[in-house]
Amino acid sequence: MVDIHCHIIPIVDDGSKSFEETINMAKKAESLGYTKIVATPHYIQNDTQITSDIIKDAVQRINQEFEKRDIKVKVYSGNEVFFTNDMYELIEKNIALPIENTRYVLMEFPMYNVKPINMENEVRNLIVSGYIPIIAHPERYEFVTENYKDLIPLIELGALMQINLGSISGTYGKQAKNNVKKLLKKNMVHLIGTDSHNSKRIYDIFESCMNDIKKIIKEEKLNTIIQNSDKVLQDKDVIKFDIKKGLFK
Ligand SMILES: [Fe+2]
Repeated sequence: MVDIHCHIIPIVDDGSKSFEETINMAKKAESLGYTKIVATPHYIQNDTQITSDIIKDAVQRINQEFEKRDIKVKVYSGNEVFFTNDMYELIEKNIALPIENTRYVLMEFPMYNVKPINMENEVRNLIVSGYIPIIAHPERYEFVTENYKDLIPLIELGALMQINLGSISGTYGKQAKNNVKKLLKKNMVHLIGTDSHNSKRIYDIFESCMNDIKKIIKEEKLNTIIQNSDKVLQDKDVIKFDIKKGLFK
């Protein structure tokens, strides 16, 4: 399995707080069946001090250490890019990183706010330039709680929706839990990430979250969603579901 969203690089954002914690995260992930993890530190324009070179260097060093310790997990570079009107420039100039030299860009919106102005334009800009935006944890956004259908134009443009595994258990509150159920039922989920920030919070509830998801969608569909993360890392097209059919569920 591939974890498409993980804050595994130590001391670059609010994720892993030490190298030891990074090792613990990798060991937990490995025990759950992950073989590849995309490191997605937050990129916040005018705030993030960590450059793309620092991330690439850290990923290389982490992989060397994992090899030494016989941890069979490989880490790949990326960012979780906070929404800005300069998304295209940040990516094109390699200031913020797509997922491991692929077309895929993990981006997040403000949590507690109305729908960002220009949201659709920025997504469209990226897509016409050849990128594929992955929207991180749509279920956590207030505007999605108000109207999940605001995500439909983004999906129709070609953006992908990545839910957080922990959302189904209520880790991020009742609204996110309700939203994630709705998005799963309505065929609006393409990817699942752990969005792990440490070795405990999400990994410890991994099995129960997967079981809860299986109560909402068929196992076959869950497997397709899980395999989509692998496709992203290989820069292949992911498998999508018919959202028009989903809307009637
Ligand atoms: Fe994240």
